[in-house]
Formats: sequence, C-alpha cells, structure tokens
Amino acid sequence: MVPAFILAALALLSACETKECHETKPKLAPNQPNGSSALASAMVAMDGQLQMVLEGVMADPEKEWGKYTLPSHNLFALEPTDGSMINGHYMIHAPLYHQAIQQFNQTPSKEHFNAVVSACADCHHGTCPGPLTRIEKRRPKVH
Ligand code: HEC
Repeated sequence: MVPAFILAALALLSACETKECHETKPKLAPNQPNGSSALASAMVAMDGQLQMVLEGVMADPEKEWGKYTLPSHNLFALEPTDGSMINGHYMIHAPLYHQAIQQFNQTPSKEHFNAVVSACADCHHGTCPGPLTRIEKRRPKVH
C-alpha cells in the first residue's frame, strides 16, 4: 500500500509537469485537473490584455498608443500553482513589472509597451521560462 501523502506528492508533481512553465517537457495530460491557479489565470489575462492593445494599435491607421491603458495585477496577492515559483527573482521582478505598467499608463508608447513585455520576460527567465516564446510575440512590430 502506498501511503496517501506519497500519492498526493506524485499528483502534485504530475500536475506541475503539465503547466506551461515546464513546457520543454512533453505534456502528459491536457490540463490541471482542478483548474488553473489564481496567478496562472491572471497571467493568461495579462497576456490577453497585451495582445488586445497590440491588435488595436496595428488595426489603427494612426498607430495611436495614447488611448490604451493596461490593468495592473497585484502579483503578490495571487496564489501560484507551486509556491516554489515565488522565489527571490520573483520578489525583485514583480515591482519592476508594476513600474513598467505605470510608465505605460502615464505615457503610452511603443517603447513603454515594449518595456512591459521586457518586464514580463525578465521575471519569466528566473521563475517560469515556458511562456517566454509566447511573451516574445507581444513585442510591438509597429512604429
Ligand atoms: C514577477 C514575475 C512575473 C511577471 C512580472 C510575469 N509573470 Fe507570467 N508567470 C509567472 C509565474 C511564476 C507563472 C506561473 C504561475 C502559476 O502556474 O501559478 C507565470 C505564468 C504565466 C503564463 C502561463 C499561464 C498558464 O496558463 O499556466 C503566461 C502565459 C504568462 N505568465 C505571461 C505573462 C505576461 C504576458 C506577463 C507580462 C504582462 C507576465 N507573465 C509577467 C511570473 C511572472
């Protein structure tokens, strides 16, 4: 008989393997059986918001950034899939992400949007590299 805590640990491990953070490994199951964490859901929303602004600017003949703002998510308040992702690197980069969002909202521009994408990528390098390819797609290609 395998003790229950070992089974629980194994279940946690395999759930972790399916996350985008471990994308380099083959996916064994389509998704977390009990849904995404609050942090992962916020991240998906953040990514969607970047994409919406980019698409809006690209569709605009004036390529006007000024009418957009980005919501700032409190990255310290949201529960992660796995507590080990909230490491020292995360603690340093969450405030830098907030700064980049604020800077964009104060003076929206291509450069400041790009700085937000960099803030996303910088944190991901040391916490959760899986979504980096996806994040790089949010770089503005417009002028
Ligand atoms: C302070 C660090 C940090 C910042 C800043 C950050 N992320 Fe994340 N991101 C994480 C961590 C940690 C996870 C894993 C969350 C989890 O699984 O609970 C994650 C997960 C994700 C995921 C995968 C979600 C899923 O379905 O599993 C995407 C996509 C993502 N982030 C995109 C972004 C984008 C886009 C930005 C910038 C707007 C951003 N991230 C900013 C740390 C960060």
